[in-house]
Amino acid sequence: MTCPADEPIPLPRERDHPLEPVRETSRLLREEPVRKVRFPNGIDAWLISGYEHFRAVMGDPQQFSSRKDETEPQMRAVSRPPVDNPAAFNRADGEQHQYYRRKLTSQFMVKRITALRPRIQQIVDEHLDAVAARPAPVDLVSAFTLPVPSLVIAEMLGVPYEHRQAFQDAATTMLGLNPTADEVQQSFARLAAVLAHVFHARLGDPRDDLISRLLHEQPDLSRADLTSLCVGLLIAGHETTANFSAMAILTLLQHPDQLATFTAHPERAGQAVEELMRRLTGNSSGGGLIRRAVHDVEIGGRLIRAGDWVAPNLAAANLDPAWCPRAERLDLDRGPVQHVAFGYGPHACLGQNLARAELEIMLVSLFSRFPHLRTTVPMEDLPFRDDMLVYGVRSLPVAW
Ligand code: HEM
Repeated sequence: MTCPADEPIPLPRERDHPLEPVRETSRLLREEPVRKVRFPNGIDAWLISGYEHFRAVMGDPQQFSSRKDETEPQMRAVSRPPVDNPAAFNRADGEQHQYYRRKLTSQFMVKRITALRPRIQQIVDEHLDAVAARPAPVDLVSAFTLPVPSLVIAEMLGVPYEHRQAFQDAATTMLGLNPTADEVQQSFARLAAVLAHVFHARLGDPRDDLISRLLHEQPDLSRADLTSLCVGLLIAGHETTANFSAMAILTLLQHPDQLATFTAHPERAGQAVEELMRRLTGNSSGGGLIRRAVHDVEIGGRLIRAGDWVAPNLAAANLDPAWCPRAERLDLDRGPVQHVAFGYGPHACLGQNLARAELEIMLVSLFSRFPHLRTTVPMEDLPFRDDMLVYGVRSLPVAW
């Protein structure tokens, strides 16, 4: 590579195989852990590779802000305007971030998620029943991995059964592949209308759900903020889990030895999900997380100027051999790993306990119900997508 590190190269995205890391990931790790890249929307950022550098950036909100504006690097060719919403706390710093995050923290603790597991299991089983009742091939993305996470969130929020379909429809449009700004606006309005019904019902008749608890325990939250927080959770928890579960299914199908380990040891499914998280986030293209330097700061011997955008590369962190030997291998027998698939620092994924429970239940149930599951199209014909935090596949036709 002759191009100096501060002269931008296009954000590397080529890979030799859809289930392998971006080709440049290991070279960047070895040779250029801090290097300027140009995002698809024409904005430059420092791509940060390596486990320790990742934690240094993500763990230091004084030096690296989460605020975004219209100049932020984006994975789409034409920038989408920034969200102007104080309750979008993933894009906020300090007190503003803490204020909203604290309102939700207790809702995602292990105890609450454990209590939700039987309902997650039911939702998963209903969807697998529906798959089994249809003639093969069935697209597992639209029949299973996409609807399950949004219904789980609806359940958690307390959206009653009669509003589920409207909630689901609006979520599907909003989180669709390429919704226009108008479609997003209209879906948001439909979701807000469903939520307004739920708020009204739960004020007089509280239940054991997130909306009832927030309404009654956090009276200072405005309705607008509550609506935004609920829609925000739907968005944050939907695409990530949907993409990740589809890629986990596909990866296990491509690695029969690892699938055999997975199905032989359901008691170790939790640990297996951690290794899948580590290895599969290693395939993403590294542009999903963005920060901005607040002051001049040195990382890996390179000066990053105040105001520069920084992209801590999740893939390179989780594939760093300095921290994880033979990191490119998926090895479900690996002991516990401290991966950073859920981020690191004050913005680390709020929904990680929920995501873990969903993934474990989805994968264990799917493979025990369909032990002879197979894909019906060759890998090269599957439509992959890497414009999201989690690399994914748009459809996954299977037979059993
Ligand atoms: C496989 C599934 C998931 C993955 C890989 C994932 C990954 C991440 C990552 C890497 C971040 C950090 C973003 C940053 O620092 O800028 C994050 C933040 C977040 N995630 Fe997740 N996530 C998943 C599922 C979920 C679920 C199910 C929910 C909730 C329903 C959720 C809610 C959130 C929220 C609210 C934040 C923002 C936290 C903050 O800024 O304080 N996520 N997630």
